[in-house]
Amino acid sequence: MGEEKRKLFSAVQPSGAVTIGNYIGAIKNFVALQDEFDCIYAVADLHAITVRQEPAALRKNTLELMALFIACGIDPEKCILFVQSHVPAHCELTWVLNTLTYPGELSRMTQFKDKSAKHADNVNMGLMDYPVLMVSDILLYQAAVVPVGADQKQHLELTRDLAIRFNNRYSETFTVPEAYIPKGSGAKIMSLADPSRKMSKSDENPNGYVTMSDDRDTVIRKFKRAVTDSGNEVRAAEDKPGVSNLIAIYGAFTGKSAAEIEREFEGKGYGDFKLAVGETVADALAPVQAEKARLLKDKAYLNGVMKRGEEAAARIARKTLSKVYRKVGFYQGE
Ligand code: TRP
Repeated sequence: MGEEKRKLFSAVQPSGAVTIGNYIGAIKNFVALQDEFDCIYAVADLHAITVRQEPAALRKNTLELMALFIACGIDPEKCILFVQSHVPAHCELTWVLNTLTYPGELSRMTQFKDKSAKHADNVNMGLMDYPVLMVSDILLYQAAVVPVGADQKQHLELTRDLAIRFNNRYSETFTVPEAYIPKGSGAKIMSLADPSRKMSKSDENPNGYVTMSDDRDTVIRKFKRAVTDSGNEVRAAEDKPGVSNLIAIYGAFTGKSAAEIEREFEGKGYGDFKLAVGETVADALAPVQAEKARLLKDKAYLNGVMKRGEEAAARIARKTLSKVYRKVGFYQGE
């Protein structure tokens, strides 16, 4: 038997289109981390309902995200891949951890404040409790590392705080996880229409984002229209946020460094560069889209993956939960 790998947990919400920003920031790293860590990846449907979802769309998005994960290269033979709501322990641990969490800790969260403003007509308890559910996701699997974007860092800090709080109150139970910032991926992918804002599918301007399902012509057109900066040199620089963003995207899809990309486009203008980025991204998306479409036709296979993932996840989660239940004093028979 080889040495045990460290456990890694992460999740993505099935809340609609997945942008290339989500891909570069999360899914691409999930694939890269499969060999180094014992990876557990979830489709976070319990988190998704903290904002209003159309039930039929949520069901469809869950299946689509599962297919996309696999089409992007997440190997269900290597990882545990499952749907969060299929493992009841997530809600059960959330309840216990709620009793160790103070409302002020949650109402202070940046994401809660942002989402409350955005969904002012639906500021529900779930939205406020969202971070505790995320804490439970992570702690149930005793994950040592959690790859998260900058917007989830506060939630990871709460995870560490609650793990330590529980361990101090009831004795050592939870692994205190660390944030994992993958090498060379400091780049947050920005909107193509306004490089001062993060690329987001909720952007009212669809030219700002490219989704994993956009067809070739759409991808190329969106990159052609991408906002660039003054001058005409393809160079990553603080005063060139548009070009820097395109360099980051091109780099993510080709594996080339910024310096290599600058050399490649020396003496060429923005037009050539934008076309090259568009074609490269379209070429990279085509096989993923084909594989995803193939998988979506094979429901039996996808259901099987989810079932096996659920069983493997539930086994680990149950073990942690029963430890927690014992420590807090729930009677569990002899
Ligand atoms: N909240 C995360 C997001 O929207 C998704 C998520 C849910 C997650 N549970 C998690 C990420 C646990 C890391 C670990 O991006």
